[in-house]
Amino acid sequence: MKRKSLWALSLIALIGLAVCAAMMWRPSIAPLDKPAMADAASVERGARVVEQGDCAVCHTRPGGAYMAGGLPLVTPFGTLYTTNITPDRETGIGAWPPEAFVRAMRKGVSRDGHFLYPAFPYVHYSRMSDTDIADAYAYLMSVDPVRARAPENHMMFPMNFRPLVSFWNLLFLRNDPLVDVPGQSAMWNRGRYLVEGAGHCSSCHTPLNFIGGEKASEHLAGGLVDGWHAPALTGMAQAANPWSAPQLVAYLRGEVADHHGGAAGPMLPVSLSIAQLPEEDAQAMADYILSLRGAGAKAGPDCAASTSAVPDNAAGAALFVGACAGCHGGGAPMRTVDGRPGLSVVSAATADTPRNLIKTLLEGIPMSPRAPSHYMPAFADSLDDSHIAALAGYLRSQACAAQPWADLEKTVTTIRQEGASK
Ligand code: HEC
Ligand code: HEC
Ligand code: HEC
Repeated sequence: MKRKSLWALSLIALIGLAVCAAMMWRPSIAPLDKPAMADAASVERGARVVEQGDCAVCHTRPGGAYMAGGLPLVTPFGTLYTTNITPDRETGIGAWPPEAFVRAMRKGVSRDGHFLYPAFPYVHYSRMSDTDIADAYAYLMSVDPVRARAPENHMMFPMNFRPLVSFWNLLFLRNDPLVDVPGQSAMWNRGRYLVEGAGHCSSCHTPLNFIGGEKASEHLAGGLVDGWHAPALTGMAQAANPWSAPQLVAYLRGEVADHHGGAAGPMLPVSLSIAQLPEEDAQAMADYILSLRGAGAKAGPDCAASTSAVPDNAAGAALFVGACAGCHGGGAPMRTVDGRPGLSVVSAATADTPRNLIKTLLEGIPMSPRAPSHYMPAFADSLDDSHIAALAGYLRSQACAAQPWADLEKTVTTIRQEGASK
């Protein structure tokens, strides 16, 4: 009896090990002998898909060659570097047959069989259509090959052991391509496809759990990325300062939207990518987003309706005149200059959290070749925490006097420290 159960236990343990080994192992796919050929139409469509997926935002480091990788991504589990996805045979994906590329996009596995970290948003790309993935491949194979190897990753134990990602995939990878929802318009379905697929919007706009997976129950209800708050994309049409479709289209395309302002922080490169696409793509995304209600929908403070007296904030007002009014209107942040909305209506000033306003002041809006007039200097070195807090308090009092932000100076200090620890 005793012997029998021992045997049974060993058998179960062996099967368990075999299952684990099978789960954590993927075969290598043989390299191509000669470069892939693609037709011009596929390459052209692929350029649009690659822009929809923001591939260059991660795979091109500042000052580096297009798609040659090397951009560091800081995650709670360590720092990793994007890889070279130019068609160089040795350091890029030049020797990858199409099926290896499809497997990477749908399953997060590299050509040689190693698991890729989910900082590469394959969880979302897996929802793209076969045609879009084939076109993206054709386009990437057509760009200039560049010899460049990504620096070594610095992942912490145990995440430096890549096969563990297979367990993560078991929990979070739904690799079925999206199918249209019947009864919804073609535009809405297209918008959903772009937002949930290539656009991977929820990777920033959904809160993450402790192992870095998106909380499905709070889909698009707002997340945190690089110290910035990525606001909820649910309930935007019902917010106290509601978004219209034209405003949202303008914002998504990197313009400054009436009554809301423009994108900063990690959203800026996303919007500059969308700006390269035909306007119908942004219109479809806006159509889908404005239909989202969900549990995340929260009206937020009704700042527009607040009639409370504006508290006295002489220090903040004086700083504003000195440092900001040159660009943001003569001493009065209400004023509209060059079609730019007054700062009293921008999301950063009306949000529940002062985080994005503080981040904007500390980091500014970096100069980008794609939008040269969309530039604001960083004030991290020229203003101390009490100055930043006074400015934030002043702007808040103009935008939402009824609900001042508490403990501003402490918050500035904390946000600065988060940045320094990276
Ligand atoms: C948010 C950043 C990010 C975006 C956006 C992104 N990638 Fe990546 N990608 C990564 C990282 C990081 C890796 C490396 C992961 C690793 O080493 O585990 C990677 C790896 C890859 C690989 C595997 C390369 C190899 O040698 O194993 C391919 C293929 C790839 N990406 C294609 C794309 C395509 C195509 C797009 C756009 C549709 C894209 N990526 C967008 C971050 C990104
Ligand atoms: C890399 C992270 C990231 C990705 C990917 C991303 N966003 Fe954002 N998004 C942000 C951040 C951060 C903000 C806040 C920016 C600011 O305050 O200037 C933001 C702001 C926005 C806003 C303004 C919300 C408001 O209330 O002011 C909209 C709309 C938006 N994003 C839509 C999208 C859509 C649609 C996608 C996918 C196509 C997307 N985002 C992808 C990080 C991201
Ligand atoms: C050189 C011109 C310039 C200066 C100086 C400047 N800004 Fe800006 N600021 C911009 C531009 C351009 C934008 C982006 C367009 C927009 O959102 O209105 C912007 C955006 C903002 C936003 C909105 C960010 C968002 O996430 O939506 C805030 C808040 C802001 N500025 C505050 C300030 C404050 C406070 C100062 C002074 C400490 C200041 N700015 C100084 C040019 C400037």
